[in-house]
Amino acid sequence: MGDRILVFYGSYRSDRLGIRLADFLVDRLSARGAEAELVDARAVGLPLLDRMYKEYPEGEAPPALESLAGKIRGADAFVFVTGEYNWGPQPGLKNLTDHFLEEWFWRPAAIASYSAGRLAGVRAGTAWHAILNEMGMVVTSSTLAVGPIARTLDESGTPIGEGGAALERAFGRFADDLAWWTEAAKEQRKRQAPPF
Ligand SMILES: Cc1cc2nc3c(=O)[nH]c(=O)nc-3n(C[C@H](O)[C@H](O)[C@H](O)COP(=O)(O)O)c2cc1C
Repeated sequence: MGDRILVFYGSYRSDRLGIRLADFLVDRLSARGAEAELVDARAVGLPLLDRMYKEYPEGEAPPALESLAGKIRGADAFVFVTGEYNWGPQPGLKNLTDHFLEEWFWRPAAIASYSAGRLAGVRAGTAWHAILNEMGMVVTSSTLAVGPIARTLDESGTPIGEGGAALERAFGRFADDLAWWTEAAKEQRKRQAPPF
């Protein structure tokens, strides 16, 4: 069975562009044999955080929260597709991640940032590095930085032009790094139960 990888994306905008990068990553990770699945925060539609998942009595969390908790617990690794709003994380994705804590523990996460401009969302990506680490994930050092996104991926998520070629070149290392840590974490979880 391939690695179960959840690809998170969190723009709620009508004219959003980052979905192109999320689609590209699901496609390419699947082509490498992973069971990759997109988690689109807008489609999940969680309200602004009231209670975290763990704050509900067992079996009483809203269905969307319960279903997502199960997916996160069952995943081997995570990819976060992070756009940048005013040098910071997009609120939709941050809101989704804040609903969980222990569910994220003991798995690796990789960050793919993007923006409309040439800086490719790296300031938000840097902020996500600390956020994901705080939430118990091992964050890989190989990142993707895609910008300008509209000149790198077309509407179907297919790489175009020079930016697309650069993305293709960077993807291999990004995926290899995540796969190595995924395997390491899987083996360690088998060898020894997590300490907390
Ligand atoms: C509220 C807002 C703030 C933005 N701030 C930044 C920014 O700080 N840096 C940047 O490179 N692009 C910024 N942009 C442009 C985004 O990179 C661009 O709109 C991108 O397509 C957003 O991702 P999305 O289309 O998936 O929502 C901003 C866009 C919005 C809507």
